Amino acid sequence: MTATENDRPEDASARLSFWEDVHGGKDVDSVSWWQSVPSLSLDLVDRTGVTHDAGVIDVGAGWSTLVDHLVERGFTDVSAIDLSETALQTVRDRLSPSEETVTLTVADVLSLDLRRTFEVWHDRAVFHFLTKEDEREDYRASLDRHTGPGAWAVITTFGPAGPTTCSGLPAVRYTHEALAAEFPGWELVDTAGDDHQTPWGTVQQFAAVLLRKPDEGTARR
Ligand SMILES: C[S@@+](CC[C@H](N)C(=O)[O-])C[C@H]1O[C@@H](n2cnc3c(N)ncnc32)[C@H](O)[C@@H]1O
Repeated sequence: MTATENDRPEDASARLSFWEDVHGGKDVDSVSWWQSVPSLSLDLVDRTGVTHDAGVIDVGAGWSTLVDHLVERGFTDVSAIDLSETALQTVRDRLSPSEETVTLTVADVLSLDLRRTFEVWHDRAVFHFLTKEDEREDYRASLDRHTGPGAWAVITTFGPAGPTTCSGLPAVRYTHEALAAEFPGWELVDTAGDDHQTPWGTVQQFAAVLLRKPDEGTARR
């Protein structure tokens, strides 16, 4: 399927209804990006070496099980944001009702303002939807507002041999180098790749980078 710029939601409110429609009334494994265990993401969070009291945020989390796995591992300050309330409600329903270590917020990553910072920022399959430079600038501004010196960012997008569309929207494919170059001022610490098997057995190439905001002195490890 070929998707063009015309297929994209035009503004923040169109974006919200678009992604709510993507999730509404669907089973978790009916979306191509579903994975029951987000192994690559967990591995990259492990590589940061942060302690379990570090603040971790998953942006554009959808109904990913990353937060569940982080809680299971003992992380005590886990947040996730997404445009889709339905997606976040699915996560809420999975977690124990007494789970107080997870904060789920409906929010747009392009205008995020949670008034706090995180030691780890995680994004799988959101940044690659930003086909316009001004959107990428807004994303970087959100990332900067929510991270301090020594913070980590795990960003995963489609790789150079990945799909050109997702959910009917155009997606940008990145090499590790091109992806890291989108975050000037951040140090490229590590790279990883993933041939993600969709629930219906096709393969999508993902590229992931582990970035660090400079200032080793204040890093929390
Ligand atoms: C391809 S899915 C990936 C979901 C999840 N990260 C995963 O790996 O399973 C993209 C997700 O980003 C969300 N999203 C898209 N644009 C967003 C934005 N501007 N702000 C917040 N969430 C967004 C969508 O609702 C959707 O849940």
